[in-house]
Parts: sequence; structure tokens; C-alpha cells
Amino acid sequence: MAYTVPKLKSFSAATLDKAAEKLQAALKQESAAVKTEADWKSFRDRWIGRKNGVLTEINELWLKAAPKDAKREVGQRVNELKTSVTATVEKSRTGVTIVPAPAVAKVGVTMSTPVEPAALDITLPGIRRPLGSEHPVIRTMHEIVSVFRNLGYSVEEGPVIETDYYNFEALNFPPNHPARDTQDTLFIARQESKPQRERLLLRTHTSPVQIRTMEKMKPPVRIVIPGKVHRNDPPDASHSPMFHQVEGLAVDANITFCDLKGTLDHAMKALFGSSVKTSFRPSFFPFTEPSAEMMVSCFICGGSGKRGSEPCRPCKQTGWIEILGCGMVDPNVYGFVDYDPKKVSGFAFGMGADRIAILKYGVDDIQLFFNGDVRFLEQFG
Ligand code: DAH
Repeated sequence: MAYTVPKLKSFSAATLDKAAEKLQAALKQESAAVKTEADWKSFRDRWIGRKNGVLTEINELWLKAAPKDAKREVGQRVNELKTSVTATVEKSRTGVTIVPAPAVAKVGVTMSTPVEPAALDITLPGIRRPLGSEHPVIRTMHEIVSVFRNLGYSVEEGPVIETDYYNFEALNFPPNHPARDTQDTLFIARQESKPQRERLLLRTHTSPVQIRTMEKMKPPVRIVIPGKVHRNDPPDASHSPMFHQVEGLAVDANITFCDLKGTLDHAMKALFGSSVKTSFRPSFFPFTEPSAEMMVSCFICGGSGKRGSEPCRPCKQTGWIEILGCGMVDPNVYGFVDYDPKKVSGFAFGMGADRIAILKYGVDDIQLFFNGDVRFLEQFG
């Protein structure tokens, strides 16, 4: 017969002793029968459960029912029994067989839900946090910038949302000049009420930062400008409406085209290996005069135009890769920044960082850089 808390006929010491003894005996017997986690839980609820637990019952039936003059004595015994019952319940927990939980190792259990030892399989692999790494385009920009930093250039940056003045006019693209058509521009809407030079657009090149820097700095100036630019080009394997450039500018007394050639030749050898050659051919940019395009000998086929018996695709079998635009700063530009073209001269250059990254890493589609697929990006980790 399971133990139930009896009502007491009297509250004499002898009756109390007897009742306590019976309770203890039942407690001992039932705790010995606890084998599993489930047994233990019902044992615990039966003895110390708030609603109908044995302890609650003795409180009700013994202590509360006791006459005033016996309360002290009864209270003491009830307290002793409480201590003994809770200690036994605690103790009987150790040694219970825990049925292994079918669940996977519990991740993120809170402090209030103790982890049952067998539910945690410590042989399972841990949570590995993937290591981040520099994006290949950003890495390429850093490499280019560091080549010029080693030559004493400092780094400047400017806004991506630019005014017509800095993007075009001060770079010697007059309003309505056809040279503007070479840079398909994304204009910010609803700017018509402003004077043209204040209208906003997404900069089409990093060259406006040349002007912004010369406005705030007197010569000598030696700067590199890494940054993001936009053009209204539909995306395909070699075009993206957003891409990256690194621009350079050196202005001082007596800077010549020889300085331009020497500097860029050195930079290309630092970037692509000491055996590459450079070659310049005439070009046109409104803000340089004379202007040139610079080629480097193909660092993939070594300038032969062939890879084994296959044609070399990156250089289109020519042995040369067009890498940047450059030239001597047009004297008209100095007029916009209050430099005296009779006293200073300088050169500038600009290159596409994405294109260089494509060539360096042998990537065949520029879109891969920007659609955020980690399987692609992981390869550069
Ligand atoms: N801004 C030019 C472009 O995006 C590139 C360029 C050419 C920059 C010649 C220069 C330069 O600084 O001198 O097409």
C-alpha cells in the first residue's frame, strides 16, 4: 500500500514520533525503487510537488491542524522532515539510469534546462565559423595602392554620388561636349531645376577626386584614388554597371612624360612580375594632353600570344593587354583648381581594378565578383 499522510489523532510526542517514523520508512522504501529518470521525476513530484506532495500534506494535516500549544513542537518536526525529504529526493537523482535522448546534441540549451550528460555527444564535430577573407577585387585594389604607397603616394577618396562639375566640367568635358558620350552616365532623377554643374550623378570614374584633392592641396601632389564607379552598361561577362578603379595623380615642378613612363613601368613590374614590358600608344582623354593607353606584355602567355598550341585568350593572341589610360594633366584642368600651369606639370592615370583582378585570377565573368556566391568567393580565402 502506498503511503498516505494520515490525520493525527493527537499531537503528543509519542504520536508524532510514530507518524514521523512511518513517513521516513516510506520515503526510504520509495527512494530505493527509483531506477530511471522517469521514476525519479514522479518520486520527486509525489514528495515535494507543490500541489499534492507529501510535504504540502504534512504542512496542512499536521502543522495547520495542530492546536496552538503544540504548534512549536509540530513545526520543528515538520521542518526536520522537510530537510530529510528534500535531501533524499536530491540524492536519489544521482545514479538513475538516463535513457539516451534520441535528439542530436542539444545546441543552445539555456541555463534553466540542464543538459542530460548522455544527450550531448561530444564526438560530434563542433560549430565551425567560416573565416572571412578579402574580396578579390578589394585585394587587387589594396595591392595596386600599396605599390604606389611604397613610392610615396598617399591615398585619397571621394563621393560616389558626384556633381556634374567634378565628374565632367572641371575635368575639361565642357557641357554638351561629345566626349561625355564616352561615359554612359547614370544621372540622379529630378535635378533639372538646378544649374547643370550642380546636378548629381553616379561618378563614372575616380578622376573627379583629382579635382577635389587639388582644390584642397597645393603642389607637390602624389595621390592614388581607389573607388567604386558606375556606368549605364548592361551587365554581361565583361561589363557591370558598378565597377572599381584606381586613379593616380602626380603634380610637381618639372614632371615629364618620362616620369609617367618610368613610374607606370615600375608599378606594372611590381604588380605582374619583373619580366613584363610596357608599351604606350596615343589616345584621347579630355583631361590629359597628350593622352595614352598603356599595354603590358601578356603575363599569362609571356607575350607570345599562345599557350602551348592553344591561342591565348586574355590577350586575344596579341601578346599585349590594355591595362590603363594615362597622360599629362591638361593645362586647362589647372585653371579649375587655381594651379599655375606655367609652374607645374603632372601626369595622371586610371585603371579598372575588376579587369586586373579578372586577369590575375583567371576569372571568366565579372558578374561572379558581385553576385555574392560564397562558393566562388571561398576560393580566394
Ligand atoms: N577616367 C578614365 C576612364 O574612366 C581613365 C583615365 C584615363 C584616368 C586617363 C586618368 C587618365 O587619370 O589620365 O576612362
